[in-house]
Order: sequence, then C-alpha cells, then structure tokens
Amino acid sequence: MASIENCYLIDLPKKDDIRGSLSFAESCNHVPFAIDRIYYLYDIPKGGERGAHAHKVLEQVMIAISGHFKITLDDGDKRETFVLDKKNQGLFIPKMIWRDMFNFSRDAVCLVLASEYFDEKDYIRDYDEFLSLAHSYES
Ligand code: TYD
Repeated sequence: MASIENCYLIDLPKKDDIRGSLSFAESCNHVPFAIDRIYYLYDIPKGGERGAHAHKVLEQVMIAISGHFKITLDDGDKRETFVLDKKNQGLFIPKMIWRDMFNFSRDAVCLVLASEYFDEKDYIRDYDEFLSLAHSYES
C-alpha cells in the first residue's frame, strides 16, 4: 500500500553566483524515476484549488518554481500537509496518494515532473473509490 512515509521533499542542486541562481533536476537521479512528461500550473485565481485526485500508476515531483502553495497528501489512512515555497525543492508523490492543492500565491507556478504520458484512465477522481482501492492494496 502507498504510504505518506514514502512521500518526501527533495533538495535540488542550487548554483549561486553574482548573476543569480540556477537549479536542476536529473531523471533517475534527483528525480527517482524516468521523466516522461512535464506540465505546469499557473494563473491560479485567488482561493483556487487543484488536484483532488490520485493516480493508479503515475509518480510525480512537484516544484514551486515561482511563489508558493500548500498540498495535503493522503494515503487513505494518514494525511500530511506540505508548503512548497522553495525553487530548489521538489516533493515526490508516489502512486496511489490523494492530493489537494490550495493557498496558491498569485505568482505561483507549480512545475510537475511526471513518470508517464497523460492518461485520464490513470486518474481516481472519486475519494470513496480511492479509499476502497487504497485499502484493498493492504490485503
Ligand atoms: P488535472 O490533472 O485535473 O489538473 P489538476 O491536478 O491541476 O487539478 O487536469 C486538468 C485538465 O487538463 C484535465 O482536463 C486533464 C488535462 N490534462 C492534459 O490534457 N494533459 C496533462 O498532462 C494534464 C496534467 C492534464
């Protein structure tokens, strides 16, 4: 069964000099899977919420490359809320973790590094279905 304990923050390399800062993330190195897709969330209106789903297979790393937001992760038993507010920090989210994203700052941009191509069939958008699937993995 997927567990909150398997979700973790990743400190990405940061190169600073008088010209500014640069961070990077390498597939199968800093990011613990091969990256097949990237996408990004932006222009989120005040009070806007995103997420409200889990994935059956997809793994992700989320990075607040601008601004900040909060994300609550839920494994069906336990929940943990993270604040993403560092341009050189990613949050690893394995499969079968429900996520709710909220409190986006006006300038928030969330970059998502994903392990698979987009597939709507991989989504679980019903929370009760998520709970039943999450608990069925226990046996
Ligand atoms: P969704 O994953 O629900 O967004 P969020 O988790 O941020 O709330 O996706 C929103 C819409 O965008 C939905 O219609 C699916 C579509 N979409 C794609 O077409 N390709 C993608 O790579 C992603 C992530 C979403």
